[in-house]
Amino acid sequence: MNRVYLDNNATTMLDPEALELMLPFLQDQYGNPNSLHFFGSQTHGALKTAIDQLYAGINARDNDDIVITSCATESNNWVLKGIYFDKILNKEKNRIIISGVEHPAVFATASFLQSLGVEVSILNVNSDASLNPKSLKDLMGDDVALVSIMSANNETGVIFPINELCEIAHEYGALFHTDAVQSIGKIPVNVQVSGVDFLSFSAHKFHGPKGVGGLFIKDGASLTPLLHGGEQMGGRRSGTLNVAGIVGMGKAMENAVKFLSVEKTHVERLRNKLEDALLTISDVYVVGDRAKRVPNTILASIRGVEGEAMLWDLNQAGIAASTGSACASESLESNPIMQAIGADSELAHTALRLSLSRFNTEAEIDYAIEKIKAAVDRLRAISSSFAYAPNGHESGL
Ligand SMILES: Cc1ncc(COP(=O)(O)O)c(C=O)c1O
Repeated sequence: MNRVYLDNNATTMLDPEALELMLPFLQDQYGNPNSLHFFGSQTHGALKTAIDQLYAGINARDNDDIVITSCATESNNWVLKGIYFDKILNKEKNRIIISGVEHPAVFATASFLQSLGVEVSILNVNSDASLNPKSLKDLMGDDVALVSIMSANNETGVIFPINELCEIAHEYGALFHTDAVQSIGKIPVNVQVSGVDFLSFSAHKFHGPKGVGGLFIKDGASLTPLLHGGEQMGGRRSGTLNVAGIVGMGKAMENAVKFLSVEKTHVERLRNKLEDALLTISDVYVVGDRAKRVPNTILASIRGVEGEAMLWDLNQAGIAASTGSACASESLESNPIMQAIGADSELAHTALRLSLSRFNTEAEIDYAIEKIKAAVDRLRAISSSFAYAPNGHESGL
């Protein structure tokens, strides 16, 4: 059976070059980097190369810090909880601002802090899933400790204006964090240009291994550690280093940046071909202006086609897609971003996310188009809601 992977916003295949560099550290070069003997020091060269690749990948300066974590969920938790310990517990400030479409790693952490008495303000997205910097200005005040807004949304692919948002946060003396998980390898990420104080990333979203990620911390920014222990990473994040993971993440970052032009040409062209084909089907709505999205993502609503049923049909054809964020896909709840942009409940239940990578081929996209069209025909034919007025629905919101 053909297998086509179109769920790259959930996770990506491991870059073969990264795997090759990782293997020795999963085999005979298993020393702990902190050990003083040969086995420990044998890891140092590869670790240094990997860390250098991470600095170069986001254009961090030597004095900035990139701290290795286990995933972006940890990085995001660390920033929000660290700021709570640094600025809120001592009553210096009492508010954080997040967007209404943050990943649960930010959203649920903010809700937890709210339960401890922190005030949380939500910056809502517009009906096209974009964010207006002016709306942040309206929410700001001197009481804000942290603004946390993702660089690109995991479900729609819509890119947020991080540079402007960061500048506004700084005007009011607040720190700025961005969850850049869905930007790395898709659009240029440059911490010197954006001016962010903290930036989270996760290797498995850019063809690196799972279980390793990082947090960029701008020179001079303090952040109380989340993990105390053996004082690894200069005391900022304790725990024995995941050597193979870090080595793989470094190479994956290097290649993610190297292949950005491929993302802009090959991936975007295939994405547009797939999207154009979807839009030839009646009553299909795609969220977000194409020019304002990362090149690999489509979030579509297909009237009369329940998202989970579509996934089932596609899976039978060997095609992997999603109804929204990976974490939500086990529940049958409607897509939260569809709710956030004010879509009606039918559209919210018919969300289909297709996310490509540089490893997808034209033949795969042609196959996916054929199978998606077949699934729409089959599912609409048995849909009680669509049968009453096929083609008669308004497209759009
Ligand atoms: C925007 C965003 N942030 C955070 C995460 C969590 O990343 P990790 O799997 O590394 O914890 C994801 C994963 O879906 C994501 O898309």
